[in-house]
Amino acid sequence: MDQTKQETRISTNSKGVDLSRREMLIGAGALMAGAAISQLGLVNSAMAAKVSSGAEGWPWPYEKVDPAQAGETAYHHWYKVFCSQAVTTGLFEQLRESVGEPWTNFPIESISFGAGGMLGWGLTCGAPVAGALVIGLAVPKEYSNAMIHDLLQWYSNTPMPVYVAQKPNYQGEIPKTVAESPLCHLSVGKWMKEADRGFGSDERRHRCASVTASVAYRTAELLNEWKDGTYKPGSAWNGPGTVGLPAQQNCMSCHGSDIPTAPR
Ligand code: HEC
Repeated sequence: MDQTKQETRISTNSKGVDLSRREMLIGAGALMAGAAISQLGLVNSAMAAKVSSGAEGWPWPYEKVDPAQAGETAYHHWYKVFCSQAVTTGLFEQLRESVGEPWTNFPIESISFGAGGMLGWGLTCGAPVAGALVIGLAVPKEYSNAMIHDLLQWYSNTPMPVYVAQKPNYQGEIPKTVAESPLCHLSVGKWMKEADRGFGSDERRHRCASVTASVAYRTAELLNEWKDGTYKPGSAWNGPGTVGLPAQQNCMSCHGSDIPTAPR
């Protein structure tokens, strides 16, 4: 679809909905309800606790996970549920066994949307998205953000895939490529170009299953290091703080030498 058509479609879809006004009304309604409740003296600690109850007992208890087993499970689940749900399955499987609740109660299917960088949109690869979810559940905030940075850096800069399945569904060598990005589109696109294989090929499927396994393995390693007290955060990247908008670091790979600057 050309750009004009896409723009037309977007504006037709949103016709007649004045978002700014709708948001104002929702906001005002919520404020009024809040004021009424506090006037009645109904805002008490019990209610506050009810609202924030999702965070009770968080971060969740973590026991070390065998990275190779997490990788092998993730590899084989990729063929059924694709990258993001396969990573959660690989990591949750052992935690459900070793810790039990609350890991047993989380609906891991809920993250299946990560496949293909969110349902084929080519955004962030679903494997590190799912790895980040598990890190976020198990690790306190002061470490989890650093660990997610590390996972994205490693994903972007490593010749992938690194994990070799014990029982692979494709026998034979496939090339390794460096995505230089956590984006699904770039990661799988660069590999397909190098391998000269289509998206539906056995080689591409084996490649994405192996990348998924690699991410499950690496996430388990990072979590285990943290559990052992040996985890050392790498360097964090802050696009808005550094270049004035969220961005990958390697500007030139997309912009060439003509890198635009964001208004400050
Ligand atoms: C993965 C590819 C990619 C990377 C990496 C990337 N950009 Fe972009 N950026 C884009 C695309 C695509 C656009 C939209 C360009 C357009 O529509 O003309 C854009 C737009 C922008 C804009 C908005 C203004 C404009 O000219 O469109 C700025 C500012 C910008 N990028 C800065 C950066 C900086 C600084 C970096 C590195 C820190 C960076 N970008 C890295 C792909 C990228």
